[in-house]
Amino acid sequence: MCSIIGILSKDIVAPALVESLKRMEYRGYDSVGIATLSTNKISVRKGIGKVGQVNSSLNLAGMEGFVGIGHTRWATHGGVTEYNAHPHSCCTNNIAVVHNGIIENYLSLKEELVKKGHIFRSETDSEVIAHLLEEYYNTGKDIKRAMMETVNQLEGSYAFVAMFANGTLSCARLDEPLVIGISDNTYYASSDVLGFLQYTDQAIFLDNRDMAIIDKAGVSIVNFSGEPGTRSITKVAWELADANKGEFAHYTIKEIFEQRISVKAATYQDEHKIKTFCDSIVSANNILVTGSGSSYHTSLIISMMGSRFLKKRFEPVMASEFQYNMDSIDKDTVIMAISQSGETADVLSATKLAREAGAKILSIVNVQTSSLARTADVSLSIKSGPEIGVAATKSFTGQVSLAYAILDRISGGKIGFDREVISDKISKMLAQQESIERLVNITMPKVNDIYLLGRSIHFPIALEGALKMKELAYVHAEGIAAGELKHGPLALMDKNAVVFVLNPDDRTYSDMLSSAYQVKARGAKIIGISNVPNDIYDAMIEIPKIDNDLLYPLIEIIPLQLFSYYLALQNNANPDFPRNLAKSVTVR
Ligand code: G6P
Repeated sequence: MCSIIGILSKDIVAPALVESLKRMEYRGYDSVGIATLSTNKISVRKGIGKVGQVNSSLNLAGMEGFVGIGHTRWATHGGVTEYNAHPHSCCTNNIAVVHNGIIENYLSLKEELVKKGHIFRSETDSEVIAHLLEEYYNTGKDIKRAMMETVNQLEGSYAFVAMFANGTLSCARLDEPLVIGISDNTYYASSDVLGFLQYTDQAIFLDNRDMAIIDKAGVSIVNFSGEPGTRSITKVAWELADANKGEFAHYTIKEIFEQRISVKAATYQDEHKIKTFCDSIVSANNILVTGSGSSYHTSLIISMMGSRFLKKRFEPVMASEFQYNMDSIDKDTVIMAISQSGETADVLSATKLAREAGAKILSIVNVQTSSLARTADVSLSIKSGPEIGVAATKSFTGQVSLAYAILDRISGGKIGFDREVISDKISKMLAQQESIERLVNITMPKVNDIYLLGRSIHFPIALEGALKMKELAYVHAEGIAAGELKHGPLALMDKNAVVFVLNPDDRTYSDMLSSAYQVKARGAKIIGISNVPNDIYDAMIEIPKIDNDLLYPLIEIIPLQLFSYYLALQNNANPDFPRNLAKSVTVR
């Protein structure tokens, strides 16, 4: 949930630290800090706000020094204050630390350290790492030993980078991502390759329970027991240019428009890999599909389509609920884990538990180098390129598109998936951008409650559309299986409600019209998303007709994404960085 970066270079590091933090800001953005080492002294500057704001007020990029660490925070322990912002220093100011994750036993560690005379300056769990390192380093001046003793004490999940006043960086990871970047004269330790991809594409992905010590002589990697390990250097493939906004006002709208291409890109797969992936599904007795947020909505679609066309039971399970649904998992079980980032803690924990119970893990990710991709038995990437906007857009349709292609292949073409048709219809939907913006301006002032109704395959889209409205525009929105209206939600309908009705002309059409009449009779305003005009709609977003009606979900989500984006602008929310959220949720 936070981003960490450490850089050791022959050049001044502060400008690169600031740039790296900007690129990883999607991971958390309530406060920012940097520490650098200059003339054997560690200086720290930190403040509340986003990287750009704090840099403007404190001139972070102007700090001196050839070694430094930086952090953007998403608060867990302790409020959003300057003193809780990272880096945290030890009492003698000889060590500064940035941390991502949660130290579960920090209170007992803190108590012991306080008894030994350590003075704490924050309410965070992270600060114990600086004081523990100090405690052990001061006794032997041996960084490797101090790191081993420290990680031995820590419980929870973490990645941290420590900077020592002798100019050494040390870092460690347990269940949180950490990757080393290497260029000619500079080393990086970062939460994400995006933290250094603008400088080098040479990366070493640390394994769980790895530590790295970085000094002018190079990088040495050992495990938590101090045994040396060799890790290969991976060339990271992503194009840096992809991580720019281009002519768009926000990443989110850029990424919405990229869906014309990304739905196609997702379906070009290595033949051997996709065959292995599909064979594993075919031979499984029990298939659980898991994910969080938007990726869970993809899991719902996969499960519905899989059960229907492969005549096998696919069970969708929210990743955060997975641990309570373990009873049916055995060696004949396949888990399909869906995740844009491949770093979501709930998903990683679900796959870990399933693997321990003997299941095979298949993953669909966007980030090919992520922990999930690296630990799965087979992993396919949707190849959407970096998705920076916190709310998933192109990754959602990329996942659904790849899932359709997989199920189509296994079912011998029963789904009739055609990437060119999808891309063409998405382009047609995007061409309605301006009318959707107008619709927001006309219908939305003073609306507090939005409901989205869908049946069958449209129900996950109702949930996904509602999630976009909550995330981007901070409006209460609820996706409802339309047949459930009469079992409760109808009581909420009155003239203040706005109801989206997902109603293309497929087998759900007439039942959906009945649902629309039920809410209309209670005075609600109805926005139809359909290819068939009807007077019942107060407003209609016309979607293009598709011969293969199974493909409508991939089209009807587009106007809901656009609507949420413009609603966010109307509500003065920053669509790229919604309040209180983070793109990659690496804590459970
Ligand atoms: C966070 C994001 C959501 C996203 C979810 C799952 O909560 O705010 O937009 O859908 O994580 O992320 P993943 O990377 O696992 O798909």
